Amino acid sequence: MPPAPNPPGQRAAALRWDGERLHLLDQTLLPAEERWITLAGVPDTVDAIRRLAIRGAPNIGIAGAYGLAMAVTTNPSRVAVRAAADALASARPTAVNLAWAVERVAAAADGATGELGERAAGAAARAEAERIHSEELLAAMELARHGAELLRGATRILTHCNTGALAAPAGGTALGVIAALHDADPSVRVLACETRPLLQGARLTAWELQREGIPFELLVDGAAAGLIRTGQVDAVVVGCDRVAANGDTANKVGTYAHALAAAAAGIPFVVAGPTSTVDLATPDGTAIEVEERAADEVRAFGNAPVAPDGVAVRNPAFDVTPSELITAIVTERGVARAPYTESLTAL
Ligand code: MRU
Repeated sequence: MPPAPNPPGQRAAALRWDGERLHLLDQTLLPAEERWITLAGVPDTVDAIRRLAIRGAPNIGIAGAYGLAMAVTTNPSRVAVRAAADALASARPTAVNLAWAVERVAAAADGATGELGERAAGAAARAEAERIHSEELLAAMELARHGAELLRGATRILTHCNTGALAAPAGGTALGVIAALHDADPSVRVLACETRPLLQGARLTAWELQREGIPFELLVDGAAAGLIRTGQVDAVVVGCDRVAANGDTANKVGTYAHALAAAAAGIPFVVAGPTSTVDLATPDGTAIEVEERAADEVRAFGNAPVAPDGVAVRNPAFDVTPSELITAIVTERGVARAPYTESLTAL
């Protein structure tokens, strides 16, 4: 049975696991409609991740983990598990959480098969996916606490994309930090960038902040630099999809411009994410694969065309902010600062 709608006034839930099936709130329909969909295996999980029905680095990792657990339960043969893991891990390339979580579940299934035979693989895979989910929940809660301590005193916070409960368990990453700051100081206000082309800020962050009663104003992405320069922002806080070993960070396209503006104005630019988003195997930002998405996402605004038919488009979904522009990276294990090669390894 699909879950009941998210109760108004409470923190939203993006996904629910019932022990056998994964239920997702289809984020492509928000804020107009709250519709839950039920996934039963790999093809529908890959499809949901690709079309952003579920999104945000930690949550696509969790969805991928449950997707593989369902596949292992249906067919635990090692060949089938590898094919399923590869299909899931490549659904979106930039957020390292997806491949990381899928490989953890694949390894758990493989270990159980080796020790106890294929029949044990499904239970082991489901248990590993549930473990990842609860670890990410705890991580989000802890990093919100560290981030709020770091930013104490800042009251006008600018953020980009959606990094709240729709993107990660608990209250999310950057938005979880902002919510914790607001809990401690009700004068905290958010400037939420709309986040073209798919409007995760306008559709999702605004929906979440409104539900939670956190005061905010929505702005077009191009307004951010001017507001920062004229002293109207105390700090920029964003999420991350992959943090390289040297601290270079991939996040939703437009993040780099905010980092440049923050550096020029001398205000903190803080990245928040769980350690599952830190990829020490990627030496620096040049090695991060940036997902290019469909041209029609740019040629239209929602469903309304805004450019002539067939015009050429560039649509990188992410950009990389070099570590020298990042004031601090907040994780559940604490706050990393430059030199990141040392501080991230130490975490
Ligand atoms: O394309 P999306 O909507 O999945 O991009 C999401 C982001 O860029 C987030 O900032 C990032 O995943 C961190 S989510 C807690």
